[in-house]
Amino acid sequence: MIGDWLDIGPVSQISPGNARTLPVRGGEEIAVFHTLDNRFFALVNRCPHKAGPLSQGIVHGDVVTCPLHAWNISLKTGKALGDDDGCVPTIPLRVDAGRIYLLREAVLGGGTPPAKVA
Ligand code: FES
Repeated sequence: MIGDWLDIGPVSQISPGNARTLPVRGGEEIAVFHTLDNRFFALVNRCPHKAGPLSQGIVHGDVVTCPLHAWNISLKTGKALGDDDGCVPTIPLRVDAGRIYLLREAVLGGGTPPAKVA
């Protein structure tokens, strides 16, 4: 099971309300977020608007506000909220015994494409 997941280190490396980035060889940079209520999410670090670095945005609830033009992006789904339209791939993440794991396949493949909404 662990073989399918990439150990990216202890949860303590990201303080609540912050994010860290993870360079991916041959892929896109990933942003891992720690919410103020102690949840963790990972997204490709590229705003669906004009590719702003979401890792530098403001985290509130399970949303990050992009630092460039203040779009709100759901950390759960990667979707732009409100009137804005767009989506960034999410990376499945789990926390186990105080360490953060990302789904290896999604990291290497650049994330899970958003499900199509009919
Ligand atoms: S690039 Fe993120 S809101 Fe414009």
